[in-house]
Amino acid sequence: MGGTPQVMATAAEVRKRVGRARASGESVGLVPTMGALHGGHLALMERARAECGYVVATVFVNPTQFPPGDDFERYPRDLDGDARKAGEVGVDLIFAPPVGEVYPPGDCTFVEVTGPLVECLCGPHRPGHFRGVTTVCARLFNMVGADRAYFGEKDYQQLLVLKQMVRDLSIPVEIVAVPTVRERDGLAMSSRNSYLSAEEREAATVLYRALSAAEREAASGERDAVALVSGVSEMIEGEPLVELQYAELRDAETLDELARLDRRAVLAVAAFVGKARLIDNVVIEPRG
Ligand code: PAJ
Repeated sequence: MGGTPQVMATAAEVRKRVGRARASGESVGLVPTMGALHGGHLALMERARAECGYVVATVFVNPTQFPPGDDFERYPRDLDGDARKAGEVGVDLIFAPPVGEVYPPGDCTFVEVTGPLVECLCGPHRPGHFRGVTTVCARLFNMVGADRAYFGEKDYQQLLVLKQMVRDLSIPVEIVAVPTVRERDGLAMSSRNSYLSAEEREAATVLYRALSAAEREAASGERDAVALVSGVSEMIEGEPLVELQYAELRDAETLDELARLDRRAVLAVAAFVGKARLIDNVVIEPRG
């Protein structure tokens, strides 16, 4: 598939180009990213390519979603490499705006989902993070005007928060969820994996090993949340290079805490491995 996509920096140019695609009857797919593209991002783009006539990917390291002291400055950036990779999976257009295009001088508006969806898991550990994510996505949705927007289940809470925002604000875009893409040893692909030393990279595999072990326990009938979660925590805490931040079992739709695995649930973890804060999850369907 084809060539390097066009790279545009302004919303006006993008709107014009997307308008043309629309006018010729094509549906428009949007894949928002912060760049440093890997196989997880490319899976979203491939899915968009398969389902939409015209595919736009955004590459924008969004300052408002990084809490103070987080990794905004050192977040990996490689627009040329990103354009090449996106071209290989058939992305038509890359929107890579400067900060001032998304946040014009003097802007005063944030978009914030409130309540239980943002008060658990990563919410309390990353103050302002989801507010930054919803603000940038609302702005990107308005700028691009896509029919569908593709997000990864790897960032499971983000996906639910964005679905809530779109519903609450009647934004005319369909949110499409794409399963997590993993390295061969199970580690969820992430731009932040590039922060890991060889030793840390090896240690990081404990996250998915622990989640998979819990999945197997659930499949063989374990329904007690404490048993499932403490199995995960103990396994991760047994790895000296990994510092567990949380391991929790929650309702897969509402993120309500569960005492028992009696409905579709998400088992989610966050941990520091060296300087990298990594997250991962599995969705578990209780059977029988
Ligand atoms: P980023 O971390 O670059 O991820 C962009 C998209 O790729 C998100 O929807 C994320 O869930 C998805 N993704 C990342 N790793 C994945 C994996 N291993 N498998 C499947 N999908 C994966 O998430 C963000 O950027 C930002 O918060 C953003 C939504 C772009 C707003 O700034």
